[in-house]
Amino acid sequence: MDVLVVDHPLAQSRLTAMRDARTDSSSFRAALHELTTMLAYEAARSFPVERYPVETPVVATQGTRLANPPLLVPVLRAGLGMANAALGLLPESSMGFVGLARDERTFEPRAYMESLPADLSGIPVLVLDPMLATGGSLEHCCRLLADRGCTDITVLCVLAAPAGIERLRRSNLPVRLVTASIDEGLNDQMFIVPGLGDAGDRQFGGM
Ligand code: PRP
Repeated sequence: MDVLVVDHPLAQSRLTAMRDARTDSSSFRAALHELTTMLAYEAARSFPVERYPVETPVVATQGTRLANPPLLVPVLRAGLGMANAALGLLPESSMGFVGLARDERTFEPRAYMESLPADLSGIPVLVLDPMLATGGSLEHCCRLLADRGCTDITVLCVLAAPAGIERLRRSNLPVRLVTASIDEGLNDQMFIVPGLGDAGDRQFGGM
């Protein structure tokens, strides 16, 4: 599985703001929005383009556009905070939704919502979720997409734990990962260390 770590100084400064426990929810959401723009920008570097004719005020020339804009899939709740930034950069995209909550005892995902096109063959998908911890949630999400025929999945994460990367790799799903950091590991509550806490709670408050 391809893994791209976006180590741009501006991405790393937004990541640091998100890690800081003193950052309030408004600033946390702002940093996540800006960081998502940078992650999506880097992810899109390899997207195929097509040429088409345009007229400048001076002359006719050739322009460039995405050949096949991706479907955006934020994983609720925490991925919602990435949705507007990704859509801003990819305004031609459509959006689907998957709702997953990780069981606090088993750490396995429980699906409570899915709103996706029935047939995803030929459609690239950009999955948005700030955290790849054990990998259970993103494996579940990517499997939903692959079951609908998707063969081209890019996951945008703020943070990834090595165990989650390994789980996605072992899944053999057609996925690549773009993240701002590969962190040290997981604690006994399966939180990413050093991490940033719970990205859903930090944006939207505890449930
Ligand atoms: C968090 C996070 C991921 C998942 C990561 O969501 O946003 O979806 O946990 O953990 P995993 O890799 O071990 O599956 P959570 O279940 O806390 O739900 P929320 O987004 O509603 O807060």
